[in-house]
Amino acid sequence: MTEELCWCGSGKAYCDCHQKNDDKVRLLQSKGEEVPDPEMLKTKEQIEGIRKAGALNTAILDEIEKMIKPGMSTEEIDRFVYDYTIAHGGIPACLGYFGFPKSCCTSINDQVCHGIPSETDILKNGDIVNVDCTTIVDGYYGDASRTFIIGKAPKKAVDLVEVTRQCLKLGLEAAKPWAHLGDIGAAISQYARKRGYSVVTEFGGHGCGVEFHEDPFVCHVGKKNTGMVLVPGMTFTIEPMINMGKPGVFVDESNDWTVYTKDGSLSAQFEHTILITETGIEILSK
Ligand code: MF3
Ligand code: CO
Ligand code: CO
Repeated sequence: MTEELCWCGSGKAYCDCHQKNDDKVRLLQSKGEEVPDPEMLKTKEQIEGIRKAGALNTAILDEIEKMIKPGMSTEEIDRFVYDYTIAHGGIPACLGYFGFPKSCCTSINDQVCHGIPSETDILKNGDIVNVDCTTIVDGYYGDASRTFIIGKAPKKAVDLVEVTRQCLKLGLEAAKPWAHLGDIGAAISQYARKRGYSVVTEFGGHGCGVEFHEDPFVCHVGKKNTGMVLVPGMTFTIEPMINMGKPGVFVDESNDWTVYTKDGSLSAQFEHTILITETGIEILSK
């Protein structure tokens, strides 16, 4: 007797592997639920590849965390990202992405995201800076960012960074198999607003792994039990951008990249790439 092997590459029979999940997805879809397209569910080989890219991506941010300090230019950070990535067999995904000129994004204070590293941007005591780095290994992607406090920052800046860290944590806790995408945004936005902050909606998380930016869009505001059902095998980022003031942002017209808060208030961000598993999540890059 020949058994049909599972599409995921586990080597197991389909009926002993993904058939139950696939049936469940079809049933939910027939009930009117939004479900992921089949290509959003990664194979075993893809997951292993994304895990490897995520490990290098995480290692880069760990190194930056050790070296970042007042007096350093964001260009130095960028040079490190490029050199370390290449030395470890990776490619910086940001470099040349839609013409982006550098290997990572460095966003200082009221810069929300997509800040361009520069020789003339010198980190000073009290700044907060997000370093967002995406790494390609063997064609797979890991995407993560952290906001660093430079030297000693005012309490209000430290509080914003800690609340933003907590927003990501709450988003991760809401991300579970068979939960909804809206649960993530609901958890994040409820907490941010309770603490008197606002959530950026023009940019969000995204499917990630086989491409840099895949579907679905992961909105950081939302309503519980709405949006796409989260199915084991999905890989995506959660990356809340939290503003101290109003949520409005604008893009710097001089470079068409750097995003600032409209009201000049501080903004912070943390990003992980995750995998939805049968029992919870696996963090692939942090
Ligand atoms: N890493 C960012 C994200 O989290 C995207 C940066 S795109 C770039 O999605 F071109 F600005 F690098
Ligand atoms: Co991202
Ligand atoms: Co990123």
